[in-house]
Amino acid sequence: MAAASSSAARCSGKGGVALLLLLVLAAVTGTSSAAPQPLCTSFYSDSCPGVYDAVWSVLQAAIAREQRMGASILRLFFHDCFVQGCDASLLLDDTPSFQGEKMATPNNGSARGFEVIDAIKSAVEKVCPGVVSCADILAIAARDSVVILGGPRWDVKVGRRDSRTASFSGANNNIPPPTSGLANLTSLFAAQGLSQKDMVALSGAHTIGLARCTSFRAHVYNDTNIDGSFARYRQSVCPRTSGSGDNNLAPLDLQTPTVFENNYYKNLVSKKGLLHSDQELFNGRSTDAQVQSYVHSRSAFFADFVTGMIKMGDITPLTGSKGEIRKNCRRIN
Ligand code: HEM
Ligand SMILES: *[C@@H]1O[C@H](CO)[C@@H](O)[C@H](O)[C@H]1NC(C)=O
Ligand SMILES: *[C@@H]1O[C@H](CO)[C@@H](O)[C@H](O)[C@H]1NC(C)=O
Ligand SMILES: *[C@@H]1O[C@H](CO)[C@@H](O)[C@H](O)[C@H]1NC(C)=O
Repeated sequence: MAAASSSAARCSGKGGVALLLLLVLAAVTGTSSAAPQPLCTSFYSDSCPGVYDAVWSVLQAAIAREQRMGASILRLFFHDCFVQGCDASLLLDDTPSFQGEKMATPNNGSARGFEVIDAIKSAVEKVCPGVVSCADILAIAARDSVVILGGPRWDVKVGRRDSRTASFSGANNNIPPPTSGLANLTSLFAAQGLSQKDMVALSGAHTIGLARCTSFRAHVYNDTNIDGSFARYRQSVCPRTSGSGDNNLAPLDLQTPTVFENNYYKNLVSKKGLLHSDQELFNGRSTDAQVQSYVHSRSAFFADFVTGMIKMGDITPLTGSKGEIRKNCRRIN
């Protein structure tokens, strides 16, 4: 069937001549080239099959040095995708004439791992210069982080290109703050085309990584839907007064912050969620049942997490001739 073969052919990272031929073919056969090109898992099969080994080896070494790095990289992907799509906009540095996303409230003093992305990009550029986008590197590295820390593996859809813009206000408005209630969490995910079910499954990412006192202070001092001894334990590393100990860290998953499993949900049912937003997922409402199901089934969580990650990775990518393949992830070419 012509449509099927042309969409398979379109899904490759071949050079400009091949692309031109495809466009001519599309014009002749009447296939629309106006439709956005889909991502696919085979995009680099011919143009850069070495990208996967390059990402894995640099990331593996970084996580061996510091296990938290896997969590930090996974979060970068989330914060990138929620702001003008998965286009590496988050990776752009501020300059005197360019305001990026790094200083926006959800990222400032909190988003980390940019040097690891730089190191991966350098390794990938050595294998195939000018071919792989920073946006795809982030998507592959997020998957690999989950795998390295014990979580599920999935085939990553690729073919994204990098933005030439960023959005400071988008970062502030689209990424949910930890003070969010269930309705706000749900609507901020819905705004990205993600369901409430996706939101609850993707939140399981908080089975790894750390948060600053400033992110959980109000929850451990003021909320009532929290286990009393857990609250006191967290208060001991997080002074009540704003401005003191703001950057003190605590694990999002009480037991195993460097292992990707379903313990996050077990914490929620015992009222030991670290963030206000975490505990909102198990607080006597519609999402309680889904949380319970993940407590009982790690594999159900893994399956839904993978579905959510693939959907999140599909948020308005730049493809075709849109955007660019950045040489350096921190700046536009
Ligand atoms: C549901 C809404 C979400 C909210 C309100 C939220 C909020 C937060 C906050 C406040 C922190 C701690 C930041 C700090 O204090 O420095 C954090 C950390 C983290 N978040 Fe989320 N998050 C959400 C969803 C997600 C999703 C969907 C993912 C990935 C799929 C994710 C992955 C992570 C990871 C891995 C960390 C730890 C990062 C590290 O240790 O460097 N979060 N999140
Ligand atoms: C980012 O954080 C630093 C350190 O806390 C602070 O001085 C600065 O004002 C923040 N920037 C923005 C744009 O909020
Ligand atoms: C959260 O929801 C309230 C109403 O329930 C609304 O006023 C507020 O703007 C929402 N905030 C976000 C960030 O969606
Ligand atoms: C707790 O709530 C009170 C009253 O709303 C507020 O004044 C105080 O700043 C809150 N404390 C923390 C640690 O959030």
